[in-house]
Amino acid sequence: MEDPHPSPPSPPKLRARAVTRTFGRAAGAVHALGPVDLDIAPGEFTCVVGPSGCGKSTLLRIGAGLLRPSSGELSIRTSARHPVAMIFQDYGIYDWKTVQANVRFGLDIQKVPRREANARATRWLTRMGLADFADAYPATLSGGMRQRVAIARALAVEPEILLMDEPFAALDAQLRTILQDELLALTQTTETTTLFITHSLEEAIVLGDRVLVMSAGPGRFIAEQRPPFDRPRTGAVRSAPEFTALKSELWELLRGEVGVRAAA
Ligand SMILES: Nc1ncnc2c1ncn2[C@@H]1O[C@H](COP(=O)(O)OP(=O)(O)OP(=O)(O)O)[C@@H](O)[C@H]1O
Ligand SMILES: [Mg+2]
Repeated sequence: MEDPHPSPPSPPKLRARAVTRTFGRAAGAVHALGPVDLDIAPGEFTCVVGPSGCGKSTLLRIGAGLLRPSSGELSIRTSARHPVAMIFQDYGIYDWKTVQANVRFGLDIQKVPRREANARATRWLTRMGLADFADAYPATLSGGMRQRVAIARALAVEPEILLMDEPFAALDAQLRTILQDELLALTQTTETTTLFITHSLEEAIVLGDRVLVMSAGPGRFIAEQRPPFDRPRTGAVRSAPEFTALKSELWELLRGEVGVRAAA
């Protein structure tokens, strides 16, 4: 029987309305993004794929409050204790801080007591396979290791909203698969609301409640697909027949847009 008093749907954690962004002025202006509308429900994992230069990072930076939209509005709803965390495409870690201090950074800002902050940082470094590098400086690490430091730093604050810009792009295939599975487990247990940008269709399908396809720049959302896998889900979905079918469908959608840009 239907619930006679259904609870109203919770308002979205992230809401964008007619968001656009232009860089520069007059003749030299680049219309980089939009207009885009987007609602991300609490606990939802949304993946965005789209051709290079279509405005994906621009959208994420607007989401993180690092950049203002040229028009439209983007709002984020979080409590003070669980902030928004962003993982940048170019890592965004500090070269003058040790690996441990980088991972502890968000916790220091939150004024988590030093002992607890160090324990949490160590836990995340261990999960990322970096425990032995706690005292190293990022310049001495490989690209993949630097990226893992950035991931550990973002996850250590137990964010309520996680904005991730191609976080696994620099990793080798094995580690990438392991971290995808870790992220699945983590976001499903904590119900973290996530906006995740990737060039990998497989990654988007494994992780996403939905996959949004962006057009060539200025990026707009042109399609939405919902991978037909129940939650909680594991990396085993990679071998489902529906997985391959959905990947082909997404590639067809994307190929048109990549072609548009290549021909331009
Ligand atoms: N600070 C900036 N000043 C001027 N132009 C910018 C700036 N940031 C981005 N752009 C331009 O805006 C467009 C979108 O850039 P953005 O980095 O958002 O693309 P993207 O989709 O993330 O690409 P990629 O997949 O290669 O990371 C590009 O044409 C880029 O050159
Ligand atoms: Mg980008």
